[in-house]
Amino acid sequence: MWRKWLESLQERRREQLLRLLEARYLDEAADAERVERAVDNLPYPHLRAVLARVAERERRHAGWLREKIRSLGGTPPPPPEAPDAPTWREVIEAFESEKADLVRYVEDVYGVGDPEVRGLLERIRREEEENYRDLLELVTRSEAHADGA
Ligand SMILES: [Fe+2]
Ligand SMILES: [Fe+2]
Repeated sequence: MWRKWLESLQERRREQLLRLLEARYLDEAADAERVERAVDNLPYPHLRAVLARVAERERRHAGWLREKIRSLGGTPPPPPEAPDAPTWREVIEAFESEKADLVRYVEDVYGVGDPEVRGLLERIRREEEENYRDLLELVTRSEAHADGA
């Protein structure tokens, strides 16, 4: 009786964890796709290099999350299709998304009991900070370009 209850509790926790990881995975995969597309289309090579770093991190995050879902016995959802948009809008959207992700990961890390998943989310959160800084630089410098500076 006691053991059954404990098992069902553990199962519920695992399901909750999987839902969280799936949501994060979909978000990271969409971010990766959007940023990769922007890298291909950005006309300034020096800015492209900054954006390529962000794309690399986002792809890596999606990969880590996908692996974690698998290791918990889940099936990663099919990657989302990010709708096509003008390149600058994709950069701005990526910037907004990374900004939101920073807060999201802080909250998720706080709420997760599993130490390994916690560690993973914490690792991603730190890199989202780097993404945020890179994108902030990019957005600021591209505004200068738009002003003809
Ligand atoms: Fe992200
Ligand atoms: Fe990320």
